[in-house]
Amino acid sequence: MPFEERVFSGMQPTGSLHLGNYLGAMLQWIELQKTHQCIYCVVDMHAITVWQEPAELRQAIRKVTAAYMAAGLDPKTSILFNQSQVAAHAELAWVFNCIARLGWLNRMTQFKEKAGKDRENASVGLFAYPNLMAADILVYKATHVPVGDDQKQHLELARDIAGKFNNDYNTEIRARGFDDGEFFPLPEPVITGPATRVMSLRDGTKKMSKSDPSDLSRINLTDDADTIAKKVRKAKTDPEPLPSEAAGLQGRPEAENLIGIFAALSGSSKDTVLAEYGGRQFSEFKANLAELSVAKLGPLGAEINRLTSDPAEIDKILADGAARAAAIAAPIMGDVKDIVGFIRS
Ligand code: TYM
Repeated sequence: MPFEERVFSGMQPTGSLHLGNYLGAMLQWIELQKTHQCIYCVVDMHAITVWQEPAELRQAIRKVTAAYMAAGLDPKTSILFNQSQVAAHAELAWVFNCIARLGWLNRMTQFKEKAGKDRENASVGLFAYPNLMAADILVYKATHVPVGDDQKQHLELARDIAGKFNNDYNTEIRARGFDDGEFFPLPEPVITGPATRVMSLRDGTKKMSKSDPSDLSRINLTDDADTIAKKVRKAKTDPEPLPSEAAGLQGRPEAENLIGIFAALSGSSKDTVLAEYGGRQFSEFKANLAELSVAKLGPLGAEINRLTSDPAEIDKILADGAARAAAIAAPIMGDVKDIVGFIRS
């Protein structure tokens, strides 16, 4: 039986959201909202895999929720909530801790990057992080997961976990009326658009990230117009004029990044942008990119601030989203308990 199409994705409430989150993920979330049932989560349980000050975490959860709405996600159409309010995420994550193999998690590049040299001192949660991520998706039997390129490996792991669960428990799954033996779908990554990997504005070989110590490396969604324009003007470039087609961007990471950002913000492709700017100097291109960035992102910051000034309203939206999410997750988690052999009342 084919699975009903359902979209799930999430962002961590750590630091402020930036242009990479917006172009790599959120723009796709907004598109999918028009055609699909979508569940968008603020993954606060993932956030505490590294230390978070409680008061800051609380604020960050509200701010990310405000950013979702400011960007165009409608809490009436889509389900917006924070992960810790739906206990089924943690319950399924435990089952998946017992499905995933140590060897699989040992290969995760994000863990290696985040744990760094001091691996012994990393939290167990940081290591098991991808299992919780698989649970986030599969507790709703979500079929499509719009993310940036850096989440690809985690999604492959989620597919492996879904496959191993279906396989290990095949007899029980069939006995419960899932005749083809497929209890969980293998969720598909949706990694699309011209900016699936937005790079630092200071170094085109490094990913734009909230943990980069230089604020000039990223455009935060809460930056005001002057700051956005300044960061674009100061972005690193190379001395050559722009090429006329995308193939000419090879070996020019800063140029490729800025062209990708322009394409994503204007809803076009790198080739279309280069057809216009090929042969021209960066100074001219950057002036137009600054103008476009301010037009598209400037209003977001003001709207995020407006929404966060009413925390009670945001908390109400999160509680409503959590109740709707929990109602979808409950029967699926109930089936999981039966399948693995737990007794429930
Ligand atoms: P997080 O919070 O690091 O990032 C949120 C989303 O933004 C994308 N992203 C980028 N895209 C392009 N260029 C960049 N420089 C860039 N930086 C971040 C990420 O790919 C992501 O889509 N593990 C996830 C959160 C998560 C999740 C999930 C996602 C938890 N459970 C279930 C999907 C499904 C994370 O840390 O994303």
